[in-house]
Amino acid sequence: MRRFVNLNGQMVSPAEAKIDLYDHGFLYGDGVFEGIRVYNGRIFKLQEHVDRLYHSARALMIGIPISKEEMTERIKLVVRENGETNCYIRVTVSRGIGLGLDPKHIRLEPTIAISTADLALYPPEMYENGLHVVTVSTRIPPAQCLDPRIKSLGRYINNILAKMEANRVGAGEGLMLNVEGYVAEATGDNLFIVKDGVLHTPPPSAGILAGITRATVMMLAEKMGIPVRETMMTLYDVYTADEAFLTGTAAEVVPMVTLDERPIGAGKPGDVTHRIIAAFREHTQSSGTPV
Ligand SMILES: Cc1ncc(COP(=O)(O)O)c(C=O)c1O
Repeated sequence: MRRFVNLNGQMVSPAEAKIDLYDHGFLYGDGVFEGIRVYNGRIFKLQEHVDRLYHSARALMIGIPISKEEMTERIKLVVRENGETNCYIRVTVSRGIGLGLDPKHIRLEPTIAISTADLALYPPEMYENGLHVVTVSTRIPPAQCLDPRIKSLGRYINNILAKMEANRVGAGEGLMLNVEGYVAEATGDNLFIVKDGVLHTPPPSAGILAGITRATVMMLAEKMGIPVRETMMTLYDVYTADEAFLTGTAAEVVPMVTLDERPIGAGKPGDVTHRIIAAFREHTQSSGTPV
């Protein structure tokens, strides 16, 4: 399938999509991004993703030169032009172009790139049988350095290092702690545990990205009558949980069955996890913004 991308408002082929060598996103990771999914021809939680993109940009003083409405239209255009019904959308915005760190000395014309792709984060059997997860030594940077709620390009080098640590021991994912040793999130997903029928997830102050899938799962669980709490957790809480799962736009909802070789609960995807996965799948098929 031939896919077009939107670069600074123009639909071009990937071969024509040229980004300046001195783009600050490329040089310094100086930019923000979003990953969004399309289900059944509808863009899932589009407004929430656009809002988060603009919040990330605001926090970093990156002036996105188009309105949220225009951004929304551009995203819809790419999905429409590429005839996508189920795909992953990547939106990237950099600060501008110029060599040298100082934003005073660069052209503050953000590069805005929107593309679509197929993305399956884990093989299908992992959704069936669950992930084996290890705790990694790479910590989440504290908000005093780089607030983890900002979905910035640069922050992800830390997550890539964490992912490589997990890969080194053949684990499905890496669980990251904050500098105080509390559980935060996986390298690209939020964490939930189930304990005595209650769903717990670390609060934003633990050092997480406030995931849109996380918010969706919290909303669905409440509707299903499953109590949800934001709880600071240590590894002990996860080791002794009845069930656990991870959530993210790319990952969707995926069971987690062991952590550091300790089986979680029965060591297989649990009942609450199955119910949440079913509710999430149904919700993705029946909601979203038409293109
Ligand atoms: C570090 C991190 N945590 C959590 C998430 C999940 O967030 P969302 O559900 O909004 O995709 C992501 C993915 O965007 C992520 O990169």
